[in-house]
Amino acid sequence: MAAARTPRVGGVVRPPGDKSISHRVLMLAALAGGKSELSGLLTGDDVKSTARVLRQLGADISTIRDSLVKVSGARLTAPGARLNCGNSGTTARLMLGILAGQPFAATLTGDASLRRRPMRRVTEPLKQMGADIEEGGDSLPLTIRGGKLHGLTYTSPVASAQVKSAILLAGLTGRVPVTIREPYRSRDHTERLFAYLGLSIRERDGAIVFEPPVRPSAHPPIALSVPGDPSSAAFLVAAAILAGSGELTIENVGVNPTRTGFIVVLERMGAHVERVNLRDEGGEPVADLLVRPAGLRGTAVTAAEIPTLVDEVPVLAVLASRAKGETVFREVGELRVKESNRLELIAANLRAVGVQAEARGNDLHVEGTDKPPRGKVDTAKDHRLAMAFAVLGTVDAADVKLSEKKSVAISYPSFFEDLDRVGAR
Ligand code: S3P
Repeated sequence: MAAARTPRVGGVVRPPGDKSISHRVLMLAALAGGKSELSGLLTGDDVKSTARVLRQLGADISTIRDSLVKVSGARLTAPGARLNCGNSGTTARLMLGILAGQPFAATLTGDASLRRRPMRRVTEPLKQMGADIEEGGDSLPLTIRGGKLHGLTYTSPVASAQVKSAILLAGLTGRVPVTIREPYRSRDHTERLFAYLGLSIRERDGAIVFEPPVRPSAHPPIALSVPGDPSSAAFLVAAAILAGSGELTIENVGVNPTRTGFIVVLERMGAHVERVNLRDEGGEPVADLLVRPAGLRGTAVTAAEIPTLVDEVPVLAVLASRAKGETVFREVGELRVKESNRLELIAANLRAVGVQAEARGNDLHVEGTDKPPRGKVDTAKDHRLAMAFAVLGTVDAADVKLSEKKSVAISYPSFFEDLDRVGAR
């Protein structure tokens, strides 16, 4: 018998704004000298957390919507209360970088998930730059007192764009030079935005080198449109690949190569994701994606590829569960410290719906099957687990029950409506 299939997924859909870029443009607009106008921002809860924190520090930001958001940059001022970063690791870690260069104290905290996530990877280099950080251990809440910083040359033990960006932002607000090396190149949105703003940033011998401007004035305001999030588009791509027929066009997707490793892996597995209308938006490459159903075969995803698809491992693992043969994701230990312990939860939830899957050391192994997935999935309120397993539930004869669905509002508020619209549910 042929593998079970959803009948038809097709039409045209637009994913929400890129989460990583939305955080960064809001922060840089809040630090700019003048009024910025941003469109296409993600309206998800994580970006609202960044806007809330920046407002507490004195920035004037209009309501977060995907049409126009206006930001009046200003000198940041001491907050009157704790800065609650909600569920957002990017807010917490990048704000630590910004606060390192400010002459006042601020306390950051977050929800239960964020309070479990490691912060020393960021506080350690910021302390080396001269920031004063009181902390109980490796996690929030913690208080940072910024001020006079000195330059830093740093080799990060993890390939993390959040670590790299925190150091770059500390260099910007503290007006000191920084040089950063990382084991593998992580997403480079901060570097691209710095370059877009005319700041001196370049790559030298595999390191990122930032030199602060000589003049003490703030950088110019920003006018740009944020491209669609490839990490959100990945769920739509997956639904179209698992379909029985149809062709799906996903418009306005960021195709920065530090983010599109999932496309490289999917092509190796036998799918074809066509890029059309390639263009540039604020220094980022953008395209429309065309996707059709495909049979998949298992593959090995290397450690070097992981930073380019780190947020797509849940959905790729779900696709691997429908492929012929075994897929292995090498060196994905970082998944243990995401919004949930994704490494263990991907494996446990795949097993819960009848798939052989297991974490062996820092590797994740998934064995493909033809059997319809059936069972109950614990999302642990992790948006990407909820969306990945919702996509698995679109397979014909599947019966996948999610413990909750609300978490999708973190990065893709209209996810279930969009799945309906393309015919996947
Ligand atoms: C992000 C970087 C990644 C990613 C996260 C967003 C960013 O985290 O998982 O969703 O915007 O810089 P790490 O830097 O911890 O790898």
